[in-house]
Amino acid sequence: MKIAVLPGDGIGTEIVEQAVRVLNALDLKFELETALVGGAAYDAHGHPLPEATLKLAKEADAVLFGAVGDWKYDTLDRPLRPEQAILGLRKNLGLFANFRPAICYEQLVGASSLKPELVAGLDILIIRELTGDIYFGQPRGRRVSPDGHFPGAEEAFDTMRYSRPEIERIARVAFEAARKRSKRVTSVDKANVLETFQLWKDVVTEIGKEYPDVALDHMYVDNAAMQLVKAPKKFDVVVTGNMFGDILSDAAAMLTGSIGMLPSASLNSSNQGLYEPSHGSAPDIAGKGVANPLATILSAAMMLRFSLNQPAAADRIEAAVQKVLAQGLRTPDIHSQGTTKVGTREMGDAVLKALG
Ligand code: IPM
Ligand code: MG
Repeated sequence: MKIAVLPGDGIGTEIVEQAVRVLNALDLKFELETALVGGAAYDAHGHPLPEATLKLAKEADAVLFGAVGDWKYDTLDRPLRPEQAILGLRKNLGLFANFRPAICYEQLVGASSLKPELVAGLDILIIRELTGDIYFGQPRGRRVSPDGHFPGAEEAFDTMRYSRPEIERIARVAFEAARKRSKRVTSVDKANVLETFQLWKDVVTEIGKEYPDVALDHMYVDNAAMQLVKAPKKFDVVVTGNMFGDILSDAAAMLTGSIGMLPSASLNSSNQGLYEPSHGSAPDIAGKGVANPLATILSAAMMLRFSLNQPAAADRIEAAVQKVLAQGLRTPDIHSQGTTKVGTREMGDAVLKALG
């Protein structure tokens, strides 16, 4: 089993280090190979996704990814910015299916920004399409406006776009996932305004007929945002496009107490996957040893389950995380009165110990 380890920037290096310690403690035979990505790769090699890093990722069974980005790169030409590394990996590896489970652990009910009764027992799965939509649609660019409200003015444009096969395959992923859960899918769209999402809704409805055992409902994205903070437990599997999924998954993260708790898996059609915390590189706290490593450790568990066929090891990691939370250990993002504040490494130590 070959794992490409791409820590990236900011807190990426600190949190991935803890996940790697956990993986190494499992008595499984892995080959781990680390490479630079994002701003770190730009600094060293002049490109956020160097050829060698991409090659390593393609050849590995799975990629463990930290985070990329820092404000200091914001003035670079877009193709050289750190974010292009993760977008390039998603595109080049065909990682179209992004799983973002939002689970509110019992011990963290008080850390959520919502009332405890709204989030206690929350367990939803956001399935975000990851290689299409306005993120990748062409054409895009900046130009002098040829028409519109202000002809001759500078303007910028992106293209929102989905093809039928792209929608079909992500819909199937969602229905299959729902079969293993409570057999309910909510498809989130904006069919009341956008052609792209009318097609989305039509195709999801068609594919839904292949899954008569799964209940399907449709929700406009604005209403979905509202329902997520009003009655999040009404959701089970949520399937949506790339941009809506980006936004809704951050909102869902806060329901769980902290975005520092949210792992993710991005899979292609051969189950090769990239595993990363849903949060970013958090340059404001980088290097301080206070970042929460649990989302990355939980991402490593997802990697064992989805790409490496080691469900028992995944269970072990998830149980260990629950145990440290039960012991009252908290990084600052999830700290509350009566619990013990710990740093990144101490949290890693505690998970290692709890693995038993
Ligand atoms: C995410 C991030 C990325 C995205 C950025 C870093 C490109 O926000 O994984 O949610 O927008 O997909
Ligand atoms: Mg995001």
